[in-house]
Amino acid sequence: MKKLIGLKKVKAAVFISGTGSNLKNLIKFSKTKKSPITINLIVSNTNKAKGLKYAVSNGIEKKIINFKYKSTAEKKIFSIIEKNNIKFICLAGFMKILSGNFIKRFDGKIINIHPSLLPKYKGLNTHVKAIKNKDKFSGCTVHFVNKKLDSGKIIMQKKVKILKNESPLSLAKKILKQEHKLYPKAIMKVFN
Ligand code: GRF
Repeated sequence: MKKLIGLKKVKAAVFISGTGSNLKNLIKFSKTKKSPITINLIVSNTNKAKGLKYAVSNGIEKKIINFKYKSTAEKKIFSIIEKNNIKFICLAGFMKILSGNFIKRFDGKIINIHPSLLPKYKGLNTHVKAIKNKDKFSGCTVHFVNKKLDSGKIIMQKKVKILKNESPLSLAKKILKQEHKLYPKAIMKVFN
């Protein structure tokens, strides 16, 4: 990614589907001097994503893209991205799987945050799985996105201890707190 950095910050898009706490945190980070990115576009596959409010409150362009037909949706996203000169994509709770074709066009420029210590527990319900398996630790991972779900090269991870009587909800909350610290650090790592 280094070749993308001149004096200017790299324009990035964040893709969301839900609450958007990572988005909120990334917007805050992007406004710091040290951030290598600015967030210029927010994409959601649903108008119900609560995180869309952060687009409004921060004056960032938002696009809601219906994913019923993935290839049409991705074509739309691609043209918006081109138009806005977006060079980097952060997935943050985005619940749609992007096609190999889309990923290829942005090879090495899409990253994701996942609430487990990958390669453990790809996909959904990571906290339930970790507790069921009586794991002592879980955590979160920021990784590059490739064609296989939650399988791209790992950028950074943070371990979180699973306590006795931990519930999936309490674990999710603990891990989310760490996600907010990890995601900006991982972006710094990608660009340094
Ligand atoms: C996070 O736990 C993230 O790791 C996962 O989905 C959740 C999104 O939370 N992919 P938020 O919408 O950023 O609050």
